[in-house]
Amino acid sequence: MSQNVSVSLEGVEYPLPKKEDYPEEFKKMKNLADAARSEGKEIVVVMGVGFVGVVMAAIVADTVDEDGKPSKFVIGMQRPSVRSYWKIPIINKGESPVKAEDPEVDPMIKRCVLEKKTLVASFSYDVLSLADVVVVDVQCDYAKNDLGNVRTGHVQMTALEESFEIIAQHIQPEALVLIETTVPPGTTEHIAFPIMKKIFESRGLESDPLLAHSYERVMPGREYVASIRDFWRVCSGINEKAREKVKKFLNEVLSTDKFPLTVLDCPVESETAKIVENSYRATILAFMDEWSLFAERNGVDLIKVIKAIKVRPTHSNMIFPGPGIGGYCLPKDGGLGIWAYKHILGFEDDIFRFTPSAIDINDTRSLHAAELVRDALRNMNVPIAAAKVLVLGASYREDVGDTRYSGSEILIRKLAEMGAEIRVHDPYVDQWWEFVNQEIYPSNSRSRFFRNQNMLTELTLQKDLQKALPQTDAVVFAVRHEEYLDLEPDKIVQSTGKPVAVIDCFGILDDEKIKHYLELGCEVKGLGRGHIRRMKDLIKNK
Ligand SMILES: NC(=O)c1ccc[n+]([C@@H]2O[C@H](COP(=O)([O-])OP(=O)(O)OC[C@H]3O[C@@H](n4cnc5c(N)ncnc54)[C@H](O)[C@@H]3O)[C@@H](O)[C@H]2O)c1
Repeated sequence: MSQNVSVSLEGVEYPLPKKEDYPEEFKKMKNLADAARSEGKEIVVVMGVGFVGVVMAAIVADTVDEDGKPSKFVIGMQRPSVRSYWKIPIINKGESPVKAEDPEVDPMIKRCVLEKKTLVASFSYDVLSLADVVVVDVQCDYAKNDLGNVRTGHVQMTALEESFEIIAQHIQPEALVLIETTVPPGTTEHIAFPIMKKIFESRGLESDPLLAHSYERVMPGREYVASIRDFWRVCSGINEKAREKVKKFLNEVLSTDKFPLTVLDCPVESETAKIVENSYRATILAFMDEWSLFAERNGVDLIKVIKAIKVRPTHSNMIFPGPGIGGYCLPKDGGLGIWAYKHILGFEDDIFRFTPSAIDINDTRSLHAAELVRDALRNMNVPIAAAKVLVLGASYREDVGDTRYSGSEILIRKLAEMGAEIRVHDPYVDQWWEFVNQEIYPSNSRSRFFRNQNMLTELTLQKDLQKALPQTDAVVFAVRHEEYLDLEPDKIVQSTGKPVAVIDCFGILDDEKIKHYLELGCEVKGLGRGHIRRMKDLIKNK
């Protein structure tokens, strides 16, 4: 990849800005901000226009005052890196740099950029000097060194630490700096504050930086915007002034009348809230893994067991985990907490039991799904190394196109390691970048945990199921996409041209369908679905 161009996901090349472009860029931004300020608008710089930042920027830019007049002017600021610079020209065209299923995202960005003219994107760090409020939405990743051992990993703080330095070098002393990034607890007070305070001192500024923290609960999918704007928020400030400023800002830009703010005493509390919130969910999902195995080995259908238990209101949030738990947050957030305990807060003892186990179990659950594929094929006398396997669903949850850390990825990597030829169908995903660009994306690609991965750069996604099915030996239901819920066994077998191995990883098949597949000569297996063996015996003994 050339170091002078940034290539969008669609393959369009955007030359990176040159040194001489910067003064002109800042002049342009300053003129826009001055004009907006003269109209009474507050200037907000959102740093990092990735998945979260760009939508947050649009929500802020869409804010109106009591008279219905736009009250904020937003500059989405993105560093001009080879990987991300392209987002700036895309936003400035009024387009979204992230593909979202939410029909509100594209028109909102278009409206704010082209009609209301309250949103613009820039590569110049100097725009920070124009801000009343800086919202930090840069990434803070957790790199795992081993598959299934979160403890040997570490937090990648560099982008965030650099951001704090850059912000402190540029902002006005009274600007509010709101950290929305999910951070290791202690970051605001023990990392951001000292970095920024030192730079403030070197600038001759006596005041403390006004730091606040409020984490995102954004959910990819059809409610993407609402999950930011119309949802409960937790926030905190480093001191009284910062706390008042963050309350005021969030009350103005979010629907806090319907979804009230929770204000915690200090940033380490709200930082911890985010980590505990996601570790709790990761843990209740992981808890089911051992019962899923128990069910498979003892003739139990875990899907029916969960349904039976859930009628108890105290147990209504029990969930069946599919083949692994993905998304950007659940696989990493607990790791941020464990790492912070030692490396920020300075404790040497090991107090964590549930959180690391949960992540490790979730990260490796899909390896067992691959074993089921292997075994189902073996029962049909097809060795996995000679099999064509069709995986239905690439994304990490149903009815979204977000493939980050999806369970299907590990399933496919393991199947590829065993030599299977893999095809993938997903109605929501155009390109599976984790495979196509596995050498560079994401920076901690999970390809390194497996052998035999090279040919996966050729992996193509099929959107037409009828084209994906012919000649396959195994069909794996990996994600609960709506399109897969009502597929008829007759039609599947007709399209594959022969009985196949069917592996249900997500409780998609009801007993009627399982029976029908078995009657058609298919082999059926499923995560947590031990009753299939019983059904098979019944059919055999008929
Ligand atoms: N995506 C989600 O579903 C989700 C949900 C809840 C919380 N979060 C949290 O939100 C935060 C952001 O996540 P994301 O998914 O938007 O990440 P992302 O990687 O999509 O976006 C981060 C952006 O910040 C930019 N950036 C990095 N350093 C910069 C700098 N110095 N100056 C300007 N820009 C810089 C990157 O180039 C990138 O465009 C993370 O902490 C994440 O854990 C994400």
